[in-house]
Amino acid sequence: MKQKQYHLKCVNCSTEYSPDEVLYTCPKCGNRKGTLEVVYDFTSQTNWVNEKKTGIAKFSSILPIQEDLLPTTVTVGDTPLYSSARLAQEHQVKEVFIKDDGKNPTASFKDRASIIAVAKARELGYSDIYAASTGNAASSLSGICAGTGIQAHIFVPETAPEAKIAQMLIYGAQVFAVKGTYDQAFDLSLKTGEKNGWYCRNSAINPYLLEGKKTCSLEIAYQTNLNLPDWIFVSVGDGTVYSSFLKGFSDLKHLGLIDKIPRVIGVQATGCDPILQTFKRGKPFVIEDMEKTETDADSIAVGKPRDYLKACQYAEQMNGDFVSVTDQEIGEAIMELARKTGVFSEPAAAASFAGFKKMSKSKVFNPQDKIALIITGNGLKDIKTPKKYLKEKVAFISPYINS
Ligand SMILES: Cc1ncc(COP(=O)(O)O)c(C=O)c1O
Ligand SMILES: [Zn+2]
Repeated sequence: MKQKQYHLKCVNCSTEYSPDEVLYTCPKCGNRKGTLEVVYDFTSQTNWVNEKKTGIAKFSSILPIQEDLLPTTVTVGDTPLYSSARLAQEHQVKEVFIKDDGKNPTASFKDRASIIAVAKARELGYSDIYAASTGNAASSLSGICAGTGIQAHIFVPETAPEAKIAQMLIYGAQVFAVKGTYDQAFDLSLKTGEKNGWYCRNSAINPYLLEGKKTCSLEIAYQTNLNLPDWIFVSVGDGTVYSSFLKGFSDLKHLGLIDKIPRVIGVQATGCDPILQTFKRGKPFVIEDMEKTETDADSIAVGKPRDYLKACQYAEQMNGDFVSVTDQEIGEAIMELARKTGVFSEPAAAASFAGFKKMSKSKVFNPQDKIALIITGNGLKDIKTPKKYLKEKVAFISPYINS
């Protein structure tokens, strides 16, 4: 298959590289600062969507992979975009969409990136891939590798939710539970992966992951017939998922398909909001890492975010913003979303709804506004946390009818 035209560009120093020159980050700026973005040489012939394909393959003309190398074991993407008339009415806006990405094969948004990582590993001739993760990226990589002949090696904090760790083992990954934080697991994985010659599926190291993640924004564009929502709410840990929405919309703008990019609002937890703080301090964006991550939303408990620069730069260039919510607000959002819409989300995913509710209280939306809440992970991934916020209890009764 003909190779697509694209190059890699450092978000810090703007140096451009061809894909065969660098594998991960800018050699001049190093990890974290020197994350690379994929820039396409779009032509007038570029057709952004192929409706005959299923899942993310629909968008392969604007993805940096060879389509025939995408695993076909499972379908990633094509997740539902629901419209909740009830939430729209309650918040006095035109429409509230719920993008239920918990419907992906391993029940999180992260499958969009993992499938790209596997296609890239195949292209580059790797038989092993590793990932450090708060839980979802790892369970996702494990599931997407299953049945492909590629072995997944996983580094997660030992505190990752039980269901996510079980997923990894069930899919056949090698799992290292690190007695420490996600940030420590990340640094350890880099050393181990490099030593063993494995391909890296770590956020902000591998430049192609964000491209897979951007397919969620493309799918929203497809599902709304390019009549995009005005606001997107999505939770933020490392900052890659957030950036991917702005990148997807910006690609569509470069293609001349849209003229306005939605306002993308990143939601962090108040007990762990280093990207929000960096953005609010303004340029130049200098990150202050947080040693302690105090939040129940495990997926966004990231004190040393790796993609902060891209997230802050994109937010600044494209009118994005960040908001933070408490664990109490997240806990309540899980219950309210489930009861009003039937979508059960994990804590980090419900943060998007909590952030929307918080901004709705300050009356920033117009009655004509359309909102999309991105539900990045299914609620069954972590049932311990929501139980802390549940008021209702099970009624235990005897199987025998009282006479
Ligand atoms: C469910 C869920 N939501 C949001 C995020 C945040 O993504 P990122 O770390 O790219 O900011 C993650 C990352 O693990 C996640 O698992
Ligand atoms: Zn650089």
